[in-house]
Amino acid sequence: MSARKRVTIPIRIEPGSDLPAAERAAVLEAVNRNRALEGALLPILHAIQDRLGWIPPRTLPLIAYELNLSRAEVHGVVSFYHYFRQHQPGEHVIFLCRAEACQAVGAVALEAHAKRALGVEFHGTSGDGRYTLEPVYCLGNCASGPSLMIDRELHGRMTPERFDELIGATSTSAASASGSASGSAT
Ligand code: FES
Repeated sequence: MSARKRVTIPIRIEPGSDLPAAERAAVLEAVNRNRALEGALLPILHAIQDRLGWIPPRTLPLIAYELNLSRAEVHGVVSFYHYFRQHQPGEHVIFLCRAEACQAVGAVALEAHAKRALGVEFHGTSGDGRYTLEPVYCLGNCASGPSLMIDRELHGRMTPERFDELIGATSTSAASASGSASGSAT
């Protein structure tokens, strides 16, 4: 009597099928819009980060699959450019200019103050998850430095005091938004 043979049936899992819907949609939309471009990977990564705020590492297999690249190739590009974030950012992203013109008018002191006030280094997120601090090299606002951008809004002639006011204002607007949200729920 012959022994029963165990047969293994391979199950093929499509890359990205286990991604959260928002991430999968962001990747597929970015790919579909930019696939035909020469060097499509960079614009695709930009589009994904614009939409999600970062490039979740779990999306790399789907990006690689769609572009017929290896995961290592995609990972190499994502990790080469500091601009691409591999960690989820805080609620507010602050870009602090480190270029020469701003450094000449106080950006160094401003950087030290911002790091101290938020308790982070560049690319870090504050402990409460609210602020991510990023360096940037010129925001095109050189005549009015030191410059920073928070939530895509440009601010010039920044001092440590004005920085604290700006951070205070984002805290206040968040508190009043949650206050009005809880008020409307009652
Ligand atoms: S050098 Fe800072 S905005 Fe240009």
